[in-house]
Amino acid sequence: MSSGLILTPALATAAGPVPRRGREMDRLELIPDAALAWRDGLVTYAGPAAELPAEAGLRLEPRSVEGAVVPGFVDCHTHLPFFGWRADEYEAKLAGQSYRDLHGGGGGIARSSQLLASASDREVMDFCRPLAAEMLARGTAAVELKTGYGLSVEGELRQARLAMELGVAIPPAFTVTLLACHAVPPGLTRVEWVETACRELIPAASREGLVSAVDVYVEDIAFSVDDFRRIAAVARGNGLAVRCHADQLGPSGGAEVAVRAGARNVDHLNHVGADGIRALGEGTTAAVLVPVADLVTAEQVPPAAELLDAGAAVALATDFNPGTSPNLSMPEVIAAGCALYRMSPNAALIAATINAAWALGMDAERGSLEKGKAADFLILDAPHPAMIPYRPGHNPVVETWLGGRLMATRAT
Ligand code: NIG
Ligand code: FE
Repeated sequence: MSSGLILTPALATAAGPVPRRGREMDRLELIPDAALAWRDGLVTYAGPAAELPAEAGLRLEPRSVEGAVVPGFVDCHTHLPFFGWRADEYEAKLAGQSYRDLHGGGGGIARSSQLLASASDREVMDFCRPLAAEMLARGTAAVELKTGYGLSVEGELRQARLAMELGVAIPPAFTVTLLACHAVPPGLTRVEWVETACRELIPAASREGLVSAVDVYVEDIAFSVDDFRRIAAVARGNGLAVRCHADQLGPSGGAEVAVRAGARNVDHLNHVGADGIRALGEGTTAAVLVPVADLVTAEQVPPAAELLDAGAAVALATDFNPGTSPNLSMPEVIAAGCALYRMSPNAALIAATINAAWALGMDAERGSLEKGKAADFLILDAPHPAMIPYRPGHNPVVETWLGGRLMATRAT
């Protein structure tokens, strides 16, 4: 197993209480002239080089780097695996059509569902693996994979199996979520599908050990708050965590209901109201914001400052999908999050690492550089992590290390 020692002008460990809440997220300790040591893939020391304990550095040849070292990013909301793009829908949106129009007109989720159904398993894997490699090269060390384009019991189980196969095939750590209620399948009513998801899909996915969480898209074009409550209860009964897409296109009250139902995270939140903000500020549910989706949909920006002021544990994610967020880059998400939400670079880095790991239930092993955790870290091309949001469109990650092994090196 791997061992090593790196000396860096600046180390952001993201260590501290988990999750980091509200304005506490601004407090990211940046250790100057630092050392990061690991053994057998686990961090043995992360701190000032001058205080490196003898045993942590024992028999290790130190390597000095010029850039800052930060924890690997955790992308806690993606829609991989999917198949095919929908650039024409983006063109239509730019010409004035809404996501709702496209959704109702056979585009949107239904279209991605057809694309997935018409592709072989191999074609899906061949499409997704290079995308996962791009993510890795941009610093993604752990990723959530989701279903939601299956739109039938068999289709959803197939997508969950593909997610599992993809997760095993790629270097980042992964977790699979069953997005049991994403769109109402053709030929069924909403009520019929929720019933089927509760009676057949969720128990089957759980029995097969394919997923660790269940997600619901709460929206007027999708599922109701009551549907969410029902699905959440069945998910819990099957030993699965609960996630929720809420308040993306309009207010639904989904956020506060999700917090009360003990959801691990509630995502999007563009139209979250005062009750939802208060609930997120007090509860144990991460508020996951997806700024590139906000840019693509031109949706009203979520009230990030209010969420932070209320004490919410904010995380940032790509929401990588072919409809609302065809972006897989966490540096881009950090840049967009800072620009759109006026978040500090420190808060954005916490949101993209330890808080995102907490949303996925991975914070004991990942998300920060602390003794005993996985040596998942990035070497940047700049001596300060504030350079990540400062240069949108630029990949600042020179090297991605997972479990103390070099997994990707930037080409240029
Ligand atoms: O998170 N909002 C619902 N689901 C996705 C979009 C899915 C799609 O358009 O394919 C999202 O934005
Ligand atoms: Fe999503």
